Amino acid sequence: MKVSLGKMVANKLKFKLLKSVNNPNSIHGIYPYRGKISAIDVQQLISQLPNKGMLLDPFCGSGTILYEARKHGLHIVGVDSNPIAVQIANAKISNFDIKQSIDKIKEIIEGIDLKKKKKMPDKAARFFHEETANQIMHLKEFYDDFNDYEKAAFLGTICLSARGCNNSKWSSTQIGKAAEVKNNIDFFSKFLMKLKKHAHPVNPNNSKIHNGDARKMSDFIKSENLKKYINEINKHIESIKWTLTKMLVDLDE
Ligand SMILES: C[S@@+](CC[C@H](N)C(=O)[O-])C[C@H]1O[C@@H](n2cnc3c(N)ncnc32)[C@H](O)[C@@H]1O
Repeated sequence: MKVSLGKMVANKLKFKLLKSVNNPNSIHGIYPYRGKISAIDVQQLISQLPNKGMLLDPFCGSGTILYEARKHGLHIVGVDSNPIAVQIANAKISNFDIKQSIDKIKEIIEGIDLKKKKKMPDKAARFFHEETANQIMHLKEFYDDFNDYEKAAFLGTICLSARGCNNSKWSSTQIGKAAEVKNNIDFFSKFLMKLKKHAHPVNPNNSKIHNGDARKMSDFIKSENLKKYINEINKHIESIKWTLTKMLVDLDE
């Protein structure tokens, strides 16, 4: 009898119903990535795995599973086609010294002259109070000198501020609704707060997070151990695609 991979895993792992899946202070709160899985759910499942070996997440998004697996002691490889997701995942799996980061960002902020106005492109500016936008545009000049963690906190603070400028009323279905009168959000202090709040680094230990298409993994994954599994994984991706296509066709009929 043929047993699907999903059933095999589900038969072995125990799933608990959780009262709350929220932990906004964890490193995962650094960026509100759409479709982010609950870290508490992940911790439950990963704690049931052996703590030696390699975990591949071919659709790793912002790296929730990768980070929790690394904390559990596993080696990790991630793939995602979205460069922002890869940036956030890399930030979580990076070495950083939070004290050095805070000192560095404070020094940058102290050197900024907000009287010299910097204009944000119109497409983005419609979501921000002009003072908030000015702070963002000044800090953006230093973006290339930020480490991965600082970059993720900067991007996460932009999302947080956009929501704050628009009366904090954005829900998952209302993102992007611009309020007529904007709140002035102090981007500098929010950025420093965010840096401190989510700083829980893990040792990266040769982790690799690739920006690419999971269907072409064999082009860029070099690990011989993983290569053995890639054909198998691709078959599952193809079968998911087939099921989805079939479902859409069925719905259409
Ligand atoms: C539900 S999200 C994963 C969220 C992740 N578990 C987290 O906690 O952030 C699914 C991800 O699959 C990625 N994705 C979709 N098609 C892909 C493909 N062909 N190759 C690689 N990544 C892909 C999307 O960019 C998205 O980040």
